[in-house]
Amino acid sequence: MKKKIGHLVMWVEFGVLTILLARFCAVRIGENVEGIRGFLVQKQENTESISKKIEKEAASDKVIGVSDGRDGRTEDTPEDTSEDTMEGGCQEKKKVALTFDDGPSSKYTPLLLEGLKERGVHATFFLMGKNIEGKEVLVKQMQEEGHLIGNHTYNHVQLDKISKEAAKEEIEATNQEIYEITGVYPAWLRPPYGEWRKNLDFYVGMFPVLWDVDTLDWKSKNVDSIMRIVKNEVEDGAVILMHDAYQSSVDAALQIVDLLMKEGYKFVTVDKLILP
Ligand code: NI
Repeated sequence: MKKKIGHLVMWVEFGVLTILLARFCAVRIGENVEGIRGFLVQKQENTESISKKIEKEAASDKVIGVSDGRDGRTEDTPEDTSEDTMEGGCQEKKKVALTFDDGPSSKYTPLLLEGLKERGVHATFFLMGKNIEGKEVLVKQMQEEGHLIGNHTYNHVQLDKISKEAAKEEIEATNQEIYEITGVYPAWLRPPYGEWRKNLDFYVGMFPVLWDVDTLDWKSKNVDSIMRIVKNEVEDGAVILMHDAYQSSVDAALQIVDLLMKEGYKFVTVDKLILP
């Protein structure tokens, strides 16, 4: 009898232990399931935040338009709704790019931006890093109004006369100034005096942009002289060099826009000349 009771106690103990073990396992499995569920939720949140970030970046790229090479414009200007193709065929409009170096200028850049906006035209501004401080609003305005912002070094240095490390510093300091305002690193660079160091583009990861039509606006400060040069030298695909640093340059630039638009030219930012 005692032996039987002993067996019974043993079986009861075994049963209790089994139940405890089963409950313990169930709790652990439950915890794991919760843990996996939490992980999946977090992963989904991460994915969502990444896709939001990508969307945000895509939106800012759209304004500056350098990384996708498709559309460097905002969508609220008349030019954007116009077709590249002419009626009855697929012939493209002649393209021309207005570029302005050495800015921004607190006096002349706002006048130029106003005139370009009225005409629904986008230009490219190659900014000097040291000229940006105090004119951040103008740089932001350029971006918001669909212009392309490029780099013209910090101190207007001749890039083939300094070491490549010093050239990189000049370029990166300017890119940083622009990035802090626009959230976008420029990809295009106008080397002062048109002097470029061989292979510097690979070292700094930027494209140098020279010009086809030198208006010599800084020298003549004369609207007629600037217009004469442009009329003589402009052609499809031309990059026109100007400086938003003089009243005569602003006046001439707006006259150039009016004249060339009548002649069937479409004004584009320089990235659109290179990347269709
Ligand atoms: Ni310059």
